[in-house]
Amino acid sequence: MAEDLHIVQGDKATMYTALIPQIKGLLEGEPDLVANLANTAAALKEQFGWFWVGFYLVKHDELVLGPFQGPVACTRIRKGRGVCGTSWAEARTLIVPDVEKFPGHIACSSLSRSEIVVPLIHNNTVVGVLDVDSAELDSFDTTDQQFLEAIVALIPWS
Ligand code: SME
Repeated sequence: MAEDLHIVQGDKATMYTALIPQIKGLLEGEPDLVANLANTAAALKEQFGWFWVGFYLVKHDELVLGPFQGPVACTRIRKGRGVCGTSWAEARTLIVPDVEKFPGHIACSSLSRSEIVVPLIHNNTVVGVLDVDSAELDSFDTTDQQFLEAIVALIPWS
């Protein structure tokens, strides 16, 4: 497909609904994981303008920073630590309306105020997480959860 993203205005569901076929187009026929994670992070950042969008991948029992869009970030997170490590340990999406109220939150940037972390699950195992940070409080809800879970399920894992 053409590499220009078509940005849509409207409510969240409208924006996600327009974005998903474009992400499918970016992933289609491309088996390389880094390329696919990089374009998925870029597409989400471009459509929504969030502060930070990126992936951490499970490597040797740690989460290691993968492709992302936004300011530099922490490189390694242990299982059960922070929002990302908790999402990994519990194999579920976590929505954090106010990061200061999440015990053990890892502040890669003091500008991050709310966060959603979605696990990437392959063969019933968490292989990484998608982490999205917002500079505003309470940016994420179950609509984000539903669509972001659908988006990470599109990423081929081999
Ligand atoms: N806040 C995350 C760490 C990753 S950065 O936000 C990019 C956490 O608590 O796991």
